[in-house]
Amino acid sequence: MTVHFIGAGPGAPDLLTLRGRDLIASCPVCLYAGSLVPEAILAHCPPGARVVNTAPLDLEQIIAVIRRAHEAGQDVARLHSGDLSVWSAMGEQLRRLKALGIPVSVTPGVPAFAAAAAALGAELTLPGLAQSVVLTRTPGRASSMPEGETLANFAATGATLAIHLSIQNIAGVVSDLVPAYGPDCPVAVVYRASWPDEVILRGTLTDIEGKVGAGISRTALILVGPALAAEGFDESCLYAAGYDRRYRPQSAESPWSGWTPEAEARSDG
Ligand SMILES: C[S@@+](CC[C@H](N)C(=O)[O-])C[C@H]1O[C@@H](n2cnc3c(N)ncnc32)[C@H](O)[C@@H]1O
Repeated sequence: MTVHFIGAGPGAPDLLTLRGRDLIASCPVCLYAGSLVPEAILAHCPPGARVVNTAPLDLEQIIAVIRRAHEAGQDVARLHSGDLSVWSAMGEQLRRLKALGIPVSVTPGVPAFAAAAAALGAELTLPGLAQSVVLTRTPGRASSMPEGETLANFAATGATLAIHLSIQNIAGVVSDLVPAYGPDCPVAVVYRASWPDEVILRGTLTDIEGKVGAGISRTALILVGPALAAEGFDESCLYAAGYDRRYRPQSAESPWSGWTPEAEARSDG
């Protein structure tokens, strides 16, 4: 018996991995975080599966459901939105299951920041402008922030920020970021990326707050940084015509001249 943690993606039911889909189909018990996991994904559960929405349960109750499945020798699909590596509450469940000696597997999912970038048609790392993406949040009722992990500190790097769980605090986000990024810095808010009711708002640190209406109060990402509205960025070396690289040696003197993947595999072996 295994508990399979599965990233269920940002919302669109077809943004689930094939591995995730097949695992769901193989498990007689499915626990899902009902606040964000779309019901359509539950259609992959086998007929007769026990399907439990964990939104109203506490951690003890969730572990109790898993223990019962363990005692019955039944595999469990445990679904969380997006990917499991950020804000999934997987860590605390893994710790309990490890203590109980219950085996687990982890299958990644499409994270919300990637779905939001796709909705914008944007690359968040552009040469010369931003080469890092910071996935962060502001403090909430249930979560304080470790000292040092402030928006002002992250903004000082100039990286692209993907700010989660913070749309209700858009005014605070703006005032923390203006000193480092300036009032004209581009901002995008993507509400329910990949869902049918997705909304995209584009603006600057000056006007974005006024564009976020009352209907956008949760499940939105705030993306900030110069890369978001850039036209004047450098091209990468990767596809530059004269760039000497393993797959495109530029002369007989190139260290890559004569290189083939097969030869490298032979020398590695
Ligand atoms: C509890 S976190 C879950 C993050 C998730 N594990 C991931 O990989 O993206 C929930 C926050 O993620 C963001 N989020 C999740 N799904 C989203 C979506 N479809 N569109 C925009 N933001 C989303 C919002 O900021 C929301 O407040």
